[in-house]
Amino acid sequence: MDVNARRLERAERKVAILEQLIEDKTREIYDANAVIEKDRSFLNRVFESMSSAVWVFNFRGRIERANEAAFTLVGVGDEPPPIEFAYIFPDLQFEDLAPQLRVETRLCRGDGSYLPVMFGATTTGSGPDLQLIVNCVDLSEKKRLEGQLQNAQKLEAVGQLAAGVAHEVNTPIQFISDGVRFLKECVDDLATGWTARSELFDALRSRGLLSAADERAIASIDNTADVDFLFAEAPAAAERTLRGVGRVAEIVRALRAFAHPDGDVCAPSDVNSAIRDAAIVATGEYKQVASLKLDLEDLPSVECNLGELNQVFLNLIVNAAHAIADRQLESPGLISITSRVEPGGVCVRVTDNGAGVPEAVRSRIFEPFFTTKPLGKGTGQGLALAHTMVEMRHGGQLTFETELGVGTTFIVRLPLSRMQKMSRAA
Ligand SMILES: Nc1ncnc2c1ncn2[C@@H]1O[C@H](COP(=O)(O)OP(=O)(O)O)[C@@H](O)[C@H]1O
Ligand SMILES: [Mg+2]
Repeated sequence: MDVNARRLERAERKVAILEQLIEDKTREIYDANAVIEKDRSFLNRVFESMSSAVWVFNFRGRIERANEAAFTLVGVGDEPPPIEFAYIFPDLQFEDLAPQLRVETRLCRGDGSYLPVMFGATTTGSGPDLQLIVNCVDLSEKKRLEGQLQNAQKLEAVGQLAAGVAHEVNTPIQFISDGVRFLKECVDDLATGWTARSELFDALRSRGLLSAADERAIASIDNTADVDFLFAEAPAAAERTLRGVGRVAEIVRALRAFAHPDGDVCAPSDVNSAIRDAAIVATGEYKQVASLKLDLEDLPSVECNLGELNQVFLNLIVNAAHAIADRQLESPGLISITSRVEPGGVCVRVTDNGAGVPEAVRSRIFEPFFTTKPLGKGTGQGLALAHTMVEMRHGGQLTFETELGVGTTFIVRLPLSRMQKMSRAA
C-alpha cells in the first residue's frame, strides 16, 4: 500500500512538472507569435507605404502580392489591373531573369499604354516555390525633365551661335555703313558741283556766249545722265540704306550684348539699355501679335550684370508675347514696359494684355521646368532663371500681378548697389 501511495505521489509530481512545462512553452509560443505578428504587420505597413511599386510573382509569372503603388502604376480607371508578368513587362523574359537584376524597361498599363520604369528584381526559392520580387520606379517625370533640359541646352547653343554670328556680322556692317555714308557725301558734293555748273551755263547763256550747238550738247548730256532724277532720288536712297544698315547694326549690337561680353561682372550700368536691347532682340517674337511701348524714365546707375538683366527682360517680353498670342481677344496686343526710380532702387514693370495666369498655376510659375506650353515652345526655365537672377544675384524682387482675360504685369525691383543688397539680405 505504501509502495502504491508513493508511486502515485511521484506520478502526480511528474504530471505537475509536465503541466508547468507545457504552460511555460505555451507562453513562449504565445510571446513568439506576438513578436511575429508585430513584425508581420510592420513589414506589411512598410510594403504598403513604399512609394515604389512592388510585386511578388509566383513560379508561373502570376501576381501573388502587390502593394498599393503597384496597383496605381498599372491600373487605369475601372479596368481590372493586369496580373501576368508577361503582360506587364513585355520586353523581359520571366524565365531568363537573373537572380539579381536592375534594368530600364517599359511597363504596360491596364489600358495598353506604356511607362518607362527602372526595374529591379530578386528571386527566392526554387521550382514551384520560386518567387520573384519585383520593384519598379516610374521614370516618366525624369524622362520629361531630361527632354526639357536637352531642349534648353539646344536653345542655349543656338543663342551662343546667334551671338557669334552677330559678332561676325558686326565688321562688314561697319564697312557697308561707312561706304554708304561716303557715297552719300559724294552725291551731295556732286549735286553742289552740278548746281554750280548749271549756274555757270546760265551766266554764259545770259551773256550770249553759248552757241546752238553748245546748247544741244548740254541738253544731250543732261538727258543721257537723267541728272535731275539722279539728284532727286539718290540722297533719299542713301538715307533709306543708312537707316536699314543702322537697324541691322542695332540688332547686332543688342545680340552681342546678350553674349555676356563682360562675363560675370557686376558694374554700375544703365538698366534702360538692357530693356532696349531686350526689346530689339525680342522683336521677332512679338511683332506678329503685339506692339511694344517703352516708357523709360532716366535712371541712376544700378550695380548689376547687364547680360543677366538682358535675359530677364527678354524672358518677360517673350512670355508676354506668348500670353497675348494665347488669348481669344480681338483687340490689338500691347506690351508696355515702364522704368521708374523709387526709394533705394529702380522698378521695371512689363505689362501685357494677354490671357493672364490661371489661379491654379500662379504658385508654380517660378518653379524650374514648370511650363504650360507644348514642348519646343516652352522650357519652363524662363521665370525660374529670371527669379534667380533678380533675387539671388541682384538682391532684388520679381513679382507679378495678373487678372484673367485682362493681362499680367511682371515687376522687377532692383536695389541701386550691392551694399543695399547685403543689408537687405542681412
Ligand atoms: N505674361 C504671362 N502671362 C500669362 N502666363 C504667363 C506669363 N508669363 C509666364 N506665364 C506662365 O508661366 C509659365 C512659366 O513661364 P516660363 O518659366 O517663362 O516658362 P515657359 O515660358 O517656357 O513656359 C508659362 O508656361 C505660363 O504658363
Ligand atoms: Mg518663358
